Amino acid sequence: EHNGTAVTGAGGSSDHRLSAQESGQTLTDRQGHPIADNQNVRTVGSRGPTTLENYHFLEKITHFDRERIPERVVHARGAGAHGVFEAYGKVGDEPIAKLTRAKLFQEQGKQTPVFVRFSSVIHGGHSPETLRDPRGFAVKFYTEDGNWDLVGNNLKVFFIRDPLKFPDLVHAFKPDPVTNRQDTVRIFDFISNTPEALHMITFLFSPWGIPSNYRYMQGSGVNTYKWVNTEGDAVLVKYHWEPKQGIKNLKQEEADAIQGKNFNHATQDLYEAIDNGQYPEWELCVQWMADDYHPELDFDPLDPTKLWPPEQFPFLPVGKMVLNRNPQNYFAEVEQVAFGTGVLVDGLDFSDDKLLQGRTFSYSDTQRHRVGTNYLQLPINAPKKRVATNQRDGQMAYAVDSPPGRNPHVNYEPSSLGGIEEARTAGKEHSPLIEGQLVREKIDRPNDYQQAGERYRSFEKWEQDELIANLVDALEPCPEIVRRKMLEHFTQCDEEYGRKVKAGLDARGPGDGSGEPMGAAKAASAVREADRKGH
Ligand code: HEM
Repeated sequence: EHNGTAVTGAGGSSDHRLSAQESGQTLTDRQGHPIADNQNVRTVGSRGPTTLENYHFLEKITHFDRERIPERVVHARGAGAHGVFEAYGKVGDEPIAKLTRAKLFQEQGKQTPVFVRFSSVIHGGHSPETLRDPRGFAVKFYTEDGNWDLVGNNLKVFFIRDPLKFPDLVHAFKPDPVTNRQDTVRIFDFISNTPEALHMITFLFSPWGIPSNYRYMQGSGVNTYKWVNTEGDAVLVKYHWEPKQGIKNLKQEEADAIQGKNFNHATQDLYEAIDNGQYPEWELCVQWMADDYHPELDFDPLDPTKLWPPEQFPFLPVGKMVLNRNPQNYFAEVEQVAFGTGVLVDGLDFSDDKLLQGRTFSYSDTQRHRVGTNYLQLPINAPKKRVATNQRDGQMAYAVDSPPGRNPHVNYEPSSLGGIEEARTAGKEHSPLIEGQLVREKIDRPNDYQQAGERYRSFEKWEQDELIANLVDALEPCPEIVRRKMLEHFTQCDEEYGRKVKAGLDARGPGDGSGEPMGAAKAASAVREADRKGH
């Protein structure tokens, strides 16, 4: 057993009234050697030079030199909290067992511990929390059957539907590789050639692109998953978190005002609310439909750029989540936590959604790089219940996954000598028949504009006004070719939408016209510089 104070969980409360000397809690190094002088390196005479056998100094400084691990390549800025999920035992009015055998949902009142990490996507670990960006909403359920991660966003749809495009999407939104500044010219150069992004863009440039903080936003799994019952029958599902606090989004100028004073407002809000006992809550709802192609729909139910219309597929509550405990250590918990879409429990399954499958490879791959081979042995990532594998060794191996009572010499399977045996299946396997020609093709009901137009029309007037103003600001520096393509897209979504963005742009004068993004970027920065001086 490690004799330090665990960095997760409760505890760690030493009696601060006794002096460290009295309670024997004085400084040591990581070898347990008492440190009597933490102020002076060992030197030849008081003026130096220092000597190389300064073990305490070398240990301290070399550890410091390694304090940073790679940031998440996306979603680097985040905040997290512990809590509890409580099941309703039903899906709407029906027993949930009809649709899924996942144990965490079965009984009314059943509690499962959770850890949640909220995030923004594009910029680094200490970037302002007021930026226009999707927000991540990732939940780790520590269930009796092992962990389940629901890795979602605050918006219900995504920019793209093919995982091959993800690195390009992210590059376009990340800072320019030359100037190191995010540039709407690059963003809209990419988006104007990616019409499936119009629905997400319509959300993102509206006030929904800047939630007031993490407590007042929704969450959504976005991708389509499956639920499987004991018979092995499956349905398609989408997940949604609804905040009991309500939903609040910011106008651009409200966000600017907050950012002028506080660039950590969302992290601060979450921490302080929990610290003050105002525990935020969300209800988990699902939408479901039969597991097939659904020719009657004008979109593909596996398409993550689409919403399932709630009139047709109602949001059915299945449980609620309360966040009631702050992390004890940001790095150990919030930074090192590793979520992934592959992390499902029995009764939950993947759909054929190709974006989901691309994601599922990407998460654990990046985490082996970002945190390390044995990232699943860290307390925040390890299941609470039990682990029994024959995986061994690797950098920073901390424990052996061999349960007590099994033969520790046997790290292979099968064996007749007391090694770990396979578990019994909990129900019939879901085994859909999959056949078809191997191709590179997009889905056959892309319908890129319809829901984007519906989204525009569903907004309140102030939301539409903000959307148009934010888009005009973002498109102003863009070259004519990018503006023209975007105006065509907006008009296809909704005639008024296109007309209003065009009117806003016309009022600002012609685009750069060179068709060359970097030239436009230069012009744009000149315009912004002039604006700044004018203010
Ligand atoms: C984080 C990849 C789409 C939500 C990440 C990370 C990667 C990644 C590599 C960093 C993970 C880490 O370092 O631990 C991808 C790929 C996608 C995709 C390849 C598409 C092909 C999405 C979508 C959503 C989403 C559609 C929302 C439904 C998140 C969230 C995080 C994240 C919430 C942060 C998790 C945390 O708080 O640690 N993604 N992503 N991603 N992604 Fe995705």
